[in-house]
Amino acid sequence: MGKIILTGDRPTGRLHVGHYVGSLKRRVELQNSGEFEKIFIMIADAQALTDNFDNPEKIRQNIIEVALDYLSCGLDPAKSTLFVQSQISELTELTFFYMNLVTVSRLQRNPTVKSEIQMRNFEASIPVGFFNYPISQAADITAFKADTVPVGDDQLPMIEQTREIVRKFNSIYDEVLVEPEALLPSNDACMRLPGTDGKAKMSKSLGNCIYLADTEKDVKTKIMSMYTDPTHIQISDPGHIEGNTVFTYLDAFSNQKHFEEYLPEYANLDELKAHYQRGGLGDVKIKKFLNNVIQEELSPIRARRAEFEKDIPAVYEILRQGSEVAREVAAQTLSEVKKAMQIDYFNDAALIASHAEKYKK
Ligand code: TRP
Repeated sequence: MGKIILTGDRPTGRLHVGHYVGSLKRRVELQNSGEFEKIFIMIADAQALTDNFDNPEKIRQNIIEVALDYLSCGLDPAKSTLFVQSQISELTELTFFYMNLVTVSRLQRNPTVKSEIQMRNFEASIPVGFFNYPISQAADITAFKADTVPVGDDQLPMIEQTREIVRKFNSIYDEVLVEPEALLPSNDACMRLPGTDGKAKMSKSLGNCIYLADTEKDVKTKIMSMYTDPTHIQISDPGHIEGNTVFTYLDAFSNQKHFEEYLPEYANLDELKAHYQRGGLGDVKIKKFLNNVIQEELSPIRARRAEFEKDIPAVYEILRQGSEVAREVAAQTLSEVKKAMQIDYFNDAALIASHAEKYKK
């Protein structure tokens, strides 16, 4: 059997550069590597509704934004199936059966759920749908028999939970499901890209994100006002690299070629860092370099987005068709699951015959 990818994002807003280095860029590389037989990229609207159930309009407005971000990054509907979670009703059916295999205390121990419950002030009363979302995520992954799930490390508890469900299902019923593995970003900076203000997480409410759809001018403004090292006051002062957002972004985005092109007086990032630490290198210079690097990465994405924006109905059509394909795959897995659970009564001639025999007068 060939290798299969499934991953996705909650459509709660436009995607930003954190999503890009954390996952999107890698997905496109994996897509174009030709190493995968099938690739499923899911817009997780049903999951987003588990903590936005009172604001369906927000989810509704952001499906197209995420789709445009996907396409503009280079996800290609000819190679990857792009689809919308809620349109695959088989996923909820799988969730329902998997719920039998998970205990409440196991869900309570899921570290991601735990911290999200705190963040959302759900401690007093947790909506059941939200509490259950790790199980629904197991359904997302297993419905497509995905073995590879490219995600950030915050999703590791979800993958672990999925693996437990798979093992339990396969041992109780039959070997139907595939145990997935997470594929994490290649470096630390990519895994945890901070906000432009240096805060640990990029978030819309903090206004510290660089979005893939931002204009060139907006990106530049955000970069030029980025958080650096508050103790680096004079250019001649020694500077710090740790916690310096500009350097974290350079770790995530820059490569050798960028130095040759935009900053040839330094051989590489290590030399630039060393100079900053010694003193004598100003913030404006490193910010301008970072701006060049990021603009180079984002400008083809922006240009592709502008093309796709010209035909929005076509983008919806891509999602509709992708959802149809995804639904067929999920339906196949669901029928295998039901058969393994022996709930295929009407297709089981032997069962019907044996009961006929039992009640023969
Ligand atoms: N939980 C993921 C996130 O918040 C989105 C998601 C839903 C997902 N189902 C998935 C990711 C299945 C990977 C696999 O970003």
